[in-house]
Amino acid sequence: MKICSTIAEARAACLDARARRRRLGLVPTMGALHEGHLSLVRAAKAQCDAVAVSIFVNPTQFGPTEDLSKYPRQFDRDCRLLEKEGVEILFAPPVEEVYPNGGVTWVLVESLSEKLDGRSRPGHFRGVTTIVAKLFHIIEPEAAFFGQKDAAQLAVIRRMVRDLNFPEEIVACPIVRESDGLAMSSRNAYLTREERSRALVLQRSLQKARQLFDDGERSAAKLISAAAKEVFASEPLVVLDYFEIVDPDTLDPVERISRRTLVAVAARVGSTRLIDNVVLEP
Ligand code: PAJ
Repeated sequence: MKICSTIAEARAACLDARARRRRLGLVPTMGALHEGHLSLVRAAKAQCDAVAVSIFVNPTQFGPTEDLSKYPRQFDRDCRLLEKEGVEILFAPPVEEVYPNGGVTWVLVESLSEKLDGRSRPGHFRGVTTIVAKLFHIIEPEAAFFGQKDAAQLAVIRRMVRDLNFPEEIVACPIVRESDGLAMSSRNAYLTREERSRALVLQRSLQKARQLFDDGERSAAKLISAAAKEVFASEPLVVLDYFEIVDPDTLDPVERISRRTLVAVAARVGSTRLIDNVVLEP
């Protein structure tokens, strides 16, 4: 695996990989890798001839009071995991390489960036789209792999790609969960044992919504009141941020579920903010 810390090295390595083979896949990450990340790497391996992974804790997607400084960093372990998966190129630049002189130029997907997580984390998606656009320009992959776990991020990136005529194919991969159902996240490492078990309320609320939906309920308001309000009432120490039933592309709320619909939840367990979702298909 070639480890590149400069943009010039990464460009050269990716040009070389594309010259020798046909399809280069990119998996953008912030490191502290878990099975969720590795599932994207495996999907990229299966669908591409060479795989590049980026590890970059992107400061511009963290708010001033968020966890940038304590975000888990485990570079050596991550390298070993990626090496084992047969990744060819790892791009892991320092912040100054990506944002020389800070940077005042942004890629912003208007409106969508203020929905779901964008509402609770102002500026977050502007940071995400800016770094993903940069990575696309540096790596120039044919396909880029993202997790359905971050459903709003996926919608914002798809819209950016469409609006800016980027050639990259965006591939969405299913949510990978712990054996008890908790969605894997680098932030799960922050949870105490007690918080870890309280955190299952997110998954419980989504299961409740799915069960009511499977029983024939199509009213979003009814699902929200039974799944979100009642289930979260049983876990008063978990603070609900949002529980929304939305169109997966526009992230606009739907009233009745008549086609593919995203049920997304975010909540604070202690000081850790967690997200999860399910997609309902009538
Ligand atoms: P990060 O949180 O490291 O996630 C990297 C990728 O892994 C994202 O596409 C995310 O959706 C996916 N992922 C995380 N947990 C997952 C799980 N349990 N199952 C499936 N996929 C999962 O998302 C980011 O980094 C950043 O915002 C980034 C896109 C790299 C831009 O900085």
